[in-house]
Amino acid sequence: MKLKVAFVSSEVVPFSKTGGLADVAGALPIELRKLGVEIIVFTPFYKSIEEGDFLYARIDMGDNLKISVGGREIDYRLYASLLRGDRVTIYFIDAPEYFHRKEFYTQDDDEAERFVFFQKALIDVLQRMQWKGDIIHINDWQTSLIPYYLKTIYAWDKLFENTKTVFTIHNIGYQGTFPAEKLPVTEILPEHFYPTGPAEFYGKINFMKLGILFSDKINTVSETYAKEILTPAFSGGLDGVLKQREKDLSGILNGVDYSQWSPQKDTLIPVNYSSQKIARKVENKKALASETGLKFSENTPVMAIISRLVSQKGFDLFLDLFDFFIEADAQLVVLGSGDEKYESFFRKLAFYSEGNIKVHIGYNNKLAHLIEAGADIFLMPSLYEPCGLNQIYSLKYGTVPVVRKTGGLADTVKDWDETPDEKGNGFVFGKFDSREFANAIERALNYYKDKRIWKKIQRNGMREDFSWRKSAKKYLELYNKALGK
Ligand code: ADP
Ligand code: GLC
Repeated sequence: MKLKVAFVSSEVVPFSKTGGLADVAGALPIELRKLGVEIIVFTPFYKSIEEGDFLYARIDMGDNLKISVGGREIDYRLYASLLRGDRVTIYFIDAPEYFHRKEFYTQDDDEAERFVFFQKALIDVLQRMQWKGDIIHINDWQTSLIPYYLKTIYAWDKLFENTKTVFTIHNIGYQGTFPAEKLPVTEILPEHFYPTGPAEFYGKINFMKLGILFSDKINTVSETYAKEILTPAFSGGLDGVLKQREKDLSGILNGVDYSQWSPQKDTLIPVNYSSQKIARKVENKKALASETGLKFSENTPVMAIISRLVSQKGFDLFLDLFDFFIEADAQLVVLGSGDEKYESFFRKLAFYSEGNIKVHIGYNNKLAHLIEAGADIFLMPSLYEPCGLNQIYSLKYGTVPVVRKTGGLADTVKDWDETPDEKGNGFVFGKFDSREFANAIERALNYYKDKRIWKKIQRNGMREDFSWRKSAKKYLELYNKALGK
């Protein structure tokens, strides 16, 4: 019998994306289907999906699709499409009042209501479909009340009697915490909200905490991060709760969708190349220079950043290195958006750099691909990193990563100097310290001058295989464990 899974995510490539969660949600279900899982995906219908160039159809689920949230009745509709032409159906829950906004995630007063609605609507749809599935796979706080709801306000429904829940934590830095006054709209039972209780976190409601306590299995997106979040420095205050669930907690490294992110297949870059034909990479370097306005110079290394500009990604380390980047014998391209203090730091850096540093504030997928293909070195000194995808993309593109040893970065990048037998694929530093970061960059810049060694480092990275298949098999095992098999 095929395993039946409903996969729920607040963002899914290509329909919606703010970060790596979307990449995962757009790829893992397809890989699971290839392993024989009968899987459907659920996500909100954002305004940008309606405005985008996507094919989807309205699904007739009968009249009167309504969900009550805080005593108000919210009408919704259901649409469906296919994940990238594959046989995986993705369902969109459409409630314009909640999801037709400028951003997917907001600071609006009804942020809790938006995702309470989404989760209740998902359960409503499953009920209307009479979906008697094995696993509901939830992702991050936006979906983490589902296990709680199934065991409380929907416990009456025998449909879900044998359904188990798997909770993937992509980032414990975002927990979905809301003021206690929101309790009635969340339908969290007052008996679960008391100091140190399952829903309570320093006087607030915490969606992620309930996910951790009520899911059957919990995992994070790398083995190292799974260990790190059991310690206070990484847990955002939830290490005690995670320890209670330690035997059900594991780490599964994300895979990468090489049909989108590999220099051989990438349709968004000017020239395709491979580890056999690395020499062609320079054509992309030229294109990157003309796209960004950098002065092309074949032997000047181009360093790159593609990132949300937030403290998680280690940008505080850059703040002390203004002169270092101005004086470096290298160019730098930055693509990202986020906190004002980092955006203005990079703008200033570009301003004073006399053309050697170019900064693009914003989100631009095509440019992200061109940067991966055209740059020489990728900088990712994260403070913490659950998995991280850009360093894995960089390995495949021969764009040597310089990373801090944490989370998924530690599990994917091997330092050239520290790894025997010329097996290293990048540069790694340990302590969260700007001097150490600068040293790692300097090591990379020095090796860049030695063409033989540099090619070796690039090839080692390009030959790594982080395709989804391996990881998807581990998810399948996790599903089976959740089912007690
Ligand atoms: P996170 O999810 O924490 O942001 P990941 O490394 O897992 O980090 O994933 C980030 C994803 O978002 C990658 O696919 C990356 O290419 C993409 N990305 C981040 N910032 C931008 C940007 N400014 N423009 C285009 N893509 C971006
Ligand atoms: C989160 C993490 C990132 C991870 C991504 C996908 O956004 O910050 O490290 O790669 O989720 O799991």
